[in-house]
Amino acid sequence: MIQIGIIGSGAMGAGIAQVAATAGHQVIVFDTDQNALKRAKVNLESTLKKLVEKQKLTQSQADNIISSTSYANELSQFKDCGLVIEAIVEMLEVKQKLFSELETIVSGQCVLATNTSSLSIASIGSACTKPERVIGIHFFNPAPVMPLVEIIPSLLTDKDVISESKKIIDSWGKTTVLTKDTPGFIVNRVARSYYGEAIRIYEEGMADFATIDWAMKTFGGFKMGPFELMDFIGNDINYKVTESVWTQFFYESRFKPSLTQKRLFEAKLFGRKSGRGYYHYSEGATIPEPNTNKDLGEYIFNRVIAMLINEAVDSFYLKLASRDDLDLAMVKGVNYPKGLLKWADEVGLQNVYNTLDVLYELYNEERYRPCILMKLMIKDNKKFY
Ligand SMILES: NC(=O)c1ccc[n+]([C@@H]2O[C@H](COP(=O)([O-])OP(=O)(O)OC[C@H]3O[C@@H](n4cnc5c(N)ncnc54)[C@H](O)[C@@H]3O)[C@@H](O)[C@H]2O)c1
Repeated sequence: MIQIGIIGSGAMGAGIAQVAATAGHQVIVFDTDQNALKRAKVNLESTLKKLVEKQKLTQSQADNIISSTSYANELSQFKDCGLVIEAIVEMLEVKQKLFSELETIVSGQCVLATNTSSLSIASIGSACTKPERVIGIHFFNPAPVMPLVEIIPSLLTDKDVISESKKIIDSWGKTTVLTKDTPGFIVNRVARSYYGEAIRIYEEGMADFATIDWAMKTFGGFKMGPFELMDFIGNDINYKVTESVWTQFFYESRFKPSLTQKRLFEAKLFGRKSGRGYYHYSEGATIPEPNTNKDLGEYIFNRVIAMLINEAVDSFYLKLASRDDLDLAMVKGVNYPKGLLKWADEVGLQNVYNTLDVLYELYNEERYRPCILMKLMIKDNKKFY
């Protein structure tokens, strides 16, 4: 089994290291911050202790994971790694500098992967003399729990590097989907409408947070409504992802951020972690009651699901990923009750098209323009499945 190198021992790096060591690899972890490394070690021990108490691991499995994980003082200790996954701060120049240094340490066969959420794999790879061995391997937070991993080759990534990366991550028990090097990859792109359209409905005064959340859970079967979910993810992270996807898509109006969320972010109303976001989380805080009017609820659900399906159809049309990978990504990456292309078949493409077309006529805004593929499929009476 190859040795795995993890660079950055924050939330993601520590989680990925745990996954790799649990799968039986020798893992070496590096961080420029010694305290972060110490924290990762302590956290791993306490996480494993809890897993043993819950009988999800035996004591000897936990001991093996601990003894397989080592902590490096310098990058030169990564020379024998077969795969290095970088999970450091989300800054292009810092990542590029690290990748060009790594190349001088590891062997020619070592695969260099980045866990970036928002930077292009092409731009990170451009810092290397062998960009063909650079690939995106994008885990979700928390890495030991979330099953989905997006595999993202750049324009220059070697075919063998793609298949080798997929094989390794599959062997860790994860569900991999293959996608293109475009902003937000699959999940962080397609999911934008869940938040953006919900905020838009709120901003127009049609319904409050609680009503919109109720509508999406009741009529769509989503586990969390958009506002509950944004508060859970953190409005700082969610706002920044939206802003990044929007600017990288050359200000495409479907991804436009909202002032509502920007102000929450500026006021540090991040959500659960700060005690207040769209909702209050202090002790004794009252939970607002939704307006359970059926027509209003259905209107909200139909509008948001039409926007989500439109994004999934557009992603399929632009060959971002296969039909199955697009659907799998939304189910395994953000817990949607079903894949959006499957959902499109169930709702009926004509109905989705009509919802969008009414909005497009009403607002005269590009964000509501139905994807051309929908038109073509309706004409030929086609379905996704
Ligand atoms: N947090 C998430 O939900 C999430 C999900 C998927 C992907 N990501 C991506 O994963 C990466 C890490 O995110 P995170 O949330 O774990 O961040 P984090 O801030 O928790 O951890 C980053 C760690 O990297 C270390 N670091 C910074 N520069 C370094 C360098 N040059 N060399 C070595 N270590 C360095 C820091 O000391 C810190 O411990 C980012 O690219 C982020 O976009 C994050």
